[in-house]
Amino acid sequence: MKIEIASFGGGLYKQALTLRNFVLLKPWNLVFTPEQLEEEKNQVHFVAVEEGEVVGVVVLKEIDDKTVKMRQLAVKEKDRGQGIGSELIAFFEEYALEHGYTQIELHARERAVRFYTQLDYERVGDVFKEVTLNHYKMIKNLD
Ligand SMILES: CC(C)(COP(=O)(O)OP(=O)(O)OC[C@H]1O[C@@H](n2cnc3c(N)ncnc32)[C@H](O)[C@@H]1OP(=O)(O)O)[C@@H](O)C(=O)NCCC(=O)NCCS
Repeated sequence: MKIEIASFGGGLYKQALTLRNFVLLKPWNLVFTPEQLEEEKNQVHFVAVEEGEVVGVVVLKEIDDKTVKMRQLAVKEKDRGQGIGSELIAFFEEYALEHGYTQIELHARERAVRFYTQLDYERVGDVFKEVTLNHYKMIKNLD
């Protein structure tokens, strides 16, 4: 398994989009809007690739010059529990540090809170609804 940055609109990006759609949207009958996808031009798309197949994805969005948002983390169901999600996050954190960011924030689905807690993300604030699901804001300081 290799983690790399997929260029917006390219083959790996398209595979990653299919995976995100399948894991994060379809079960709740959601779709990406053209505006959401347009915004992704300015975001960084990390993909975990195994023999040409995208098995995991996570997306970095800049909030300000010190903070980034981690979004759209998804691993193919058949490949879960092997460390791919954690490795994607480690790669993301390293990239963020190298680019001068000091804080990562994310909106965790309730079921994923424990996973992020194990990786030193801290819950801040109360539960809120996003795309019909309960979420918690979580942050990690990198310095
Ligand atoms: C959350 C997710 C990205 C984790 O990816 P992963 O590659 O399975 O993660 P890892 O293997 O690095 O770690 C998995 C942890 O989750 C748990 N886990 C183990 N097997 C699992 C499985 N088959 N499915 C889900 N979680 C599992 C374990 O507690 C493990 O922690 P451990 O290191 O203490 O054993 C993945 O389960 C997923 O895509 N879930 C659906 C989408 C989602 O919820 N995304 C996050 C939105 S906020």
